[in-house]
Amino acid sequence: MSLPGSQHAVGTDGSDYQHRECIAPHYRASIESKSRLRLLIYSHFLLGFLVFVHILTYHTSLMSTLNVPRPHLWQYIWLNSILSSICGLVSINKNRIFLMKIFFRGTVIFGLGTIITTIIINLSELFTFKKLKTNHQLDELEPQTFFGFPLLSAYSLIADNNNNNNNNNNQQCTKDSCSSITSSTYYVLYDVNHGEGFNLRRDVYIRMANLIHTLRERKSADSNWILVLPPWGPLYHWFSHNLPRTQLKWSNFFDIKSLSRFIPVIEFEDFRQLFTSSSSSSSSSTSQITIPYVYTLQHFSEGWGENFEEKLEIRKCNEESMYEKRNDNYYYGWFFGYDDRIRARQFQCLSAQGFVTVLVDFLIQNITWSDDRNKEQVVKSIMFDRAETLLHVDYGGYNYWRARRSMRYAKQLVDLGNRFRVDYLNSTDLIDRTVLIDDWTKMKRHHSQAMGGPYIGIHLRRRDYIKARPGYVPSLEHAARQVCHHLSRLNLSLTFIATDADENEIDTLRQHAHQLCETSSNQIYTYRPNEKILENILDGGKAIVDQWICAHARYFIGSYESTFSFRIQEDREILGFEQDSTFNRLCGDHEVLLIISLIAIYWFQRKPTLSKPDDIQQTIRNFRIDNGGVKGAGASHEGSFVDRMIHSNKKMVVFYGSQTGTAEDFAQRIAKQAKRYGISAAVCDPEECDMEELQRLIAIDKHLALFCLATYGEGDPTDNAQEFYEWLRENGRDLTGLHYAVFGLGNKTYEHYNAVGKLVDKRITELGGVRVCDLGLGDDDGNIEDDFMAWATIFWQNVCHKYELVINTDGTSMRQYKLVPGPFPVDSVFTGEIGRLKSYERQKPPYDARNPYLAPVTNTRELFQNDCLRSCLHLELDISATNIKYEAGYHVGVFPSNDAALVNRVGELLDVNLDEIISLLNVDEDAQKKYPFPCPCSYRTALTYYLDLTSMPNTQILKEIAQYATDENDKTLLTLMGSYSEEGKIQYKEWILDSCRSIVAILEDLPSLKPPLDHLCELLPRLHPRYYSISSSPKVHPTSIHITAVIVHFETPTKRVAKGVATNCFKELYMKHQAIGCAQHKEGDTCHLPGRLPIFIRKSTFRLPFRFQTPIIMIGPGTGLAPFRGFIQERHFFKNQVKPQGKPVGETILYYGCRNRAEDYLYEEELNYFVKENVLELHIAFSRDQEEKIYVTHLLKDHGAKLWKLIKEDNASVYVCGDAKNMARDVHSILIDIAQTYGNMTSERAAAFIKDLIQKERYSQDVWS
Ligand SMILES: Cc1cc2nc3c(=O)[nH]c(=O)nc-3n(C[C@H](O)[C@H](O)[C@H](O)COP(=O)(O)OP(=O)(O)OC[C@H]3O[C@@H](n4cnc5c(N)ncnc54)[C@H](O)[C@@H]3O)c2cc1C
Ligand SMILES: Cc1cc2nc3c(=O)[nH]c(=O)nc-3n(C[C@H](O)[C@H](O)[C@H](O)COP(=O)(O)O)c2cc1C
Repeated sequence: MSLPGSQHAVGTDGSDYQHRECIAPHYRASIESKSRLRLLIYSHFLLGFLVFVHILTYHTSLMSTLNVPRPHLWQYIWLNSILSSICGLVSINKNRIFLMKIFFRGTVIFGLGTIITTIIINLSELFTFKKLKTNHQLDELEPQTFFGFPLLSAYSLIADNNNNNNNNNNQQCTKDSCSSITSSTYYVLYDVNHGEGFNLRRDVYIRMANLIHTLRERKSADSNWILVLPPWGPLYHWFSHNLPRTQLKWSNFFDIKSLSRFIPVIEFEDFRQLFTSSSSSSSSSTSQITIPYVYTLQHFSEGWGENFEEKLEIRKCNEESMYEKRNDNYYYGWFFGYDDRIRARQFQCLSAQGFVTVLVDFLIQNITWSDDRNKEQVVKSIMFDRAETLLHVDYGGYNYWRARRSMRYAKQLVDLGNRFRVDYLNSTDLIDRTVLIDDWTKMKRHHSQAMGGPYIGIHLRRRDYIKARPGYVPSLEHAARQVCHHLSRLNLSLTFIATDADENEIDTLRQHAHQLCETSSNQIYTYRPNEKILENILDGGKAIVDQWICAHARYFIGSYESTFSFRIQEDREILGFEQDSTFNRLCGDHEVLLIISLIAIYWFQRKPTLSKPDDIQQTIRNFRIDNGGVKGAGASHEGSFVDRMIHSNKKMVVFYGSQTGTAEDFAQRIAKQAKRYGISAAVCDPEECDMEELQRLIAIDKHLALFCLATYGEGDPTDNAQEFYEWLRENGRDLTGLHYAVFGLGNKTYEHYNAVGKLVDKRITELGGVRVCDLGLGDDDGNIEDDFMAWATIFWQNVCHKYELVINTDGTSMRQYKLVPGPFPVDSVFTGEIGRLKSYERQKPPYDARNPYLAPVTNTRELFQNDCLRSCLHLELDISATNIKYEAGYHVGVFPSNDAALVNRVGELLDVNLDEIISLLNVDEDAQKKYPFPCPCSYRTALTYYLDLTSMPNTQILKEIAQYATDENDKTLLTLMGSYSEEGKIQYKEWILDSCRSIVAILEDLPSLKPPLDHLCELLPRLHPRYYSISSSPKVHPTSIHITAVIVHFETPTKRVAKGVATNCFKELYMKHQAIGCAQHKEGDTCHLPGRLPIFIRKSTFRLPFRFQTPIIMIGPGTGLAPFRGFIQERHFFKNQVKPQGKPVGETILYYGCRNRAEDYLYEEELNYFVKENVLELHIAFSRDQEEKIYVTHLLKDHGAKLWKLIKEDNASVYVCGDAKNMARDVHSILIDIAQTYGNMTSERAAAFIKDLIQKERYSQDVWS
């Protein structure tokens, strides 16, 4: 290497050499600094060029469709600095100027060359693509599958590296390091019945992983739960007896890093070594560790009983125990073949029934961890044997899938599977659209995103199945027939079979296929690793390779009730295959006949008679997928909102985060308004979109992303915006150049006013977004309609200015849905279902907001005294026939229905036959939402179950219906209110808001107004569920959910009686129950009463502290008492009813308030009973029983010293429930005052102290306004 100024380097050109020698030192220095400057400029040119190429190719490349993460900017900088260093090195060479020139010119030529090459490649790919498309050879592929392809591998390398770097935050434990181990780290071990195989064991892992997840979710300040992975083997189906078959590590089969992205896990061997090597001097192979508790789970010997009930009880072992007590008083057993190297200090059998999370309370409340008294190796660990006894919690739900998705396979197995696919099956991830990125948490795939390799995958289970399920296992000939049928149908010739059949059987199958298939070129492959590979991957590895190959097939057919097939089906769901290509199975020889006969019978009996016009056909086809209530698939560009936008030439997308519909309504309205400016806008639910695609949106010229986001709870996003919110906050996001605006929806009475809107707006700017309009904030406590309209005006001004748009005044039709008149087949008509058609007739779990459970109401009673003018009802909903679980403090969502009289009144006023069946179909084929509500249905159904008739219509509705008023005055009034002029606003406030005029009142008061009912149905907002704080404890009422609800009933300024929708339903049920003489219920009585309510459970963070001994202070006036009733019941249960002598529970203090003792004192008897039982300390403020008003807040002030002691010294938790507007705010400031007064703090410190309580979940609110 030459040093600066060195004269030893010889150039290729003598004159140049001479020239350089003649340069004076100071001049040389100046040339060098100029060169460096130029060097810098060129390097930056190169950097810019790379970024340009990247952006160009990324947005048109396969990577974006395949979710390959985009490399970071710093990676370019890193690349650039390497190049700069090279330049630097070159420049200090004697021939620096010459070489630099060459280098710089080379750089420019290289740069230009690459641009030209990229353009040529892209053009040629486009050309090829078009050609193939024209020939219909590649109908399924999108253009982006081709563009940018040549750069993909290079990017993937960077992206992989990027991924790996990003994933260091998981908690993977190894022998040498376990980032998460603290003194309060607890290990959960488990084992499964020894007869169970590989596939069921994987299922049990998901259950246990969810147990750990739930334990960790319960943010107990100092607990860290880790799952110990039970070593594999010996397993019945692993036939290679010459290979290692026991104590196999999970890393043989799974990617441990990926598992630990869901919960922290540790291999058993690492766990053992961790605790034997640290303090024992003996070799780790001989040292012993002691597990304090081992439980064998077992069923209750008396069976499940009549009702499903979750329970746990230490019982005598049903079977002979597998753990024996030896003379040293320790228990010894199998322990995965480690025998005496592991022992247990305590062993018992635990009868268990229910979901795996039934163990959560058991672990938290019943297990005490003493320190290592005898210097033996006692690890804070507990083992559950026969873990399969307990059920999945939330089977098929969010965390089920997270656990399942974390079960990525070991890399070597994936590589083997991929190699086989390439070598024999013409299958690669790129072409098959099955690329997975390493970090599953960052992936989102949708059905039909994956195409699969050009082969069918079959799992043919034979061996023991031939005997065990004779009717369902096809003969080899029949299996071949089915293979041929699908090959011909799919126009394929390759088949891959994963099977336990022997070679002779496979040959026979091949022969049948050769004879039966139309294409003689068909090939059937199986995966048979050679000895060396098998030695390496073992039987389990072979099974996974088989599974992997089947999972990537274009079409998969499994075996009847086979857990192996289930695992493949799960993999295909994760990969994003169309469901039809996954959930299939081979039929037994005689099953086909049976099915044909059944179809024939059905066909002849059903006699379809309707000839359907196109629209009806489309309606019928679509409603099965998306009926406006059920979220899910859309049309051809399903999943990719950007593709849908490109397809329908849309520039603007409006996302909404909404719980009760306001934000969704605003989103729809702003999208409608866009039409007036000549822009077409899509409205999207972020939950249904891959929000990573925001990065692709930037490539659309004049794009615009708008977010209407409501805030809930403690500054939290709505359920449907949760994932997006988390995604946005993660590191590594880049939204450079995204044109966006945010309108937040909130309520000033809440502490975290509009927290979500504010954060999203700020964060997108941080990520490089370009704000087109300042953040808008809507306050529901004031006039949110006003806030929105004012903001929308400014928004459109800004957009018009930026994009040079002009308002279109030609009165373009604003209709979003077209009316599709009937007839419709009777069994296709919705009758009030929220989700799936006929879901109320055939109820199927899991139940949630999209699939509510129709719960029988088994008890209703009035809680206020008879002479009280107001009403508050107690309702009991029966969930005994379900697996619905709840905890004290959760909410129950109820879908209400409108009053029949009100519905009929609409029919009368508009003179419409309400029983006419209609469908409303979105005119925009690419819209995410095809129907405004489940369609087809009758007008009556729509008005009763789907549309909100009682709230006050917004200005947009008034503006749109104005055209239907025939009286000029009526029309002028409506137009004025809809115009949003200053005068219009005043009129709207006066005539609609202050007068509480609903749509029915408007129709009544403006008799010339006769909008077509279908248009009105399009305009009215959806009827949303109402939430209630559950007022029971599952410990005391495991099969019922209680509600305590004040009935909403008031007179409006126009002298109309207004009734709350949901509470009016409750009242009607109560009246019916009264009428049939089941009025006098005592707690727990059930009388088989009529009436059901569609319900679902919503979790909440409002829950009792983990330790029973922790004192609790509950503040809940009025119906704010509801969740506390559940809390008190639970504390009473543990104090008195838990065997043998009950648990000591901490102080349980309630501050309750109502108007008068004699009128509206809720649950008086019960509360007094709990006081008598020494469970409850009760303080009541009867506000109107004396001259001076007294509220709970007065009592709190009076008890300041005591409350301070409880909070500060005894670590009490504080709970507030009820009115958000005044009470919750006042309580908050009183708590700050108390901290200031009794804790000698400044007001700032006191506020910080209270804030800290909130963060530690020691001060929780469940409030509504
Ligand atoms: C998390 C949560 C928990 C809840 N828990 C409970 C609970 O345990 N118990 C309970 O009773 N409620 C509870 N609520 C409130 C409940 O969800 C409903 O809002 C309430 O029952 C009214 O529903 P509704 O359908 O009968 O009335 P709606 O049809 O929704 O009508 C209510 C609306 O009527 C209007 N209104 C009411 N009275 C008047 C008046 N005098 N003048 C003018 N306008 C008026 C208000 O705008 C009000 O929003 C809870 C709410 C939330 C969000
Ligand atoms: C239970 C509940 C909690 C709420 N919490 C907050 C909050 O913390 N901060 C806030 O600004 N608004 C809060 N709000 C107000 C809502 O954000 C506001 O009413 C919004 O308009 C609802 O929009 P949506 O109908 O689209 O769900 C809360 C409302 C309810 C009912």
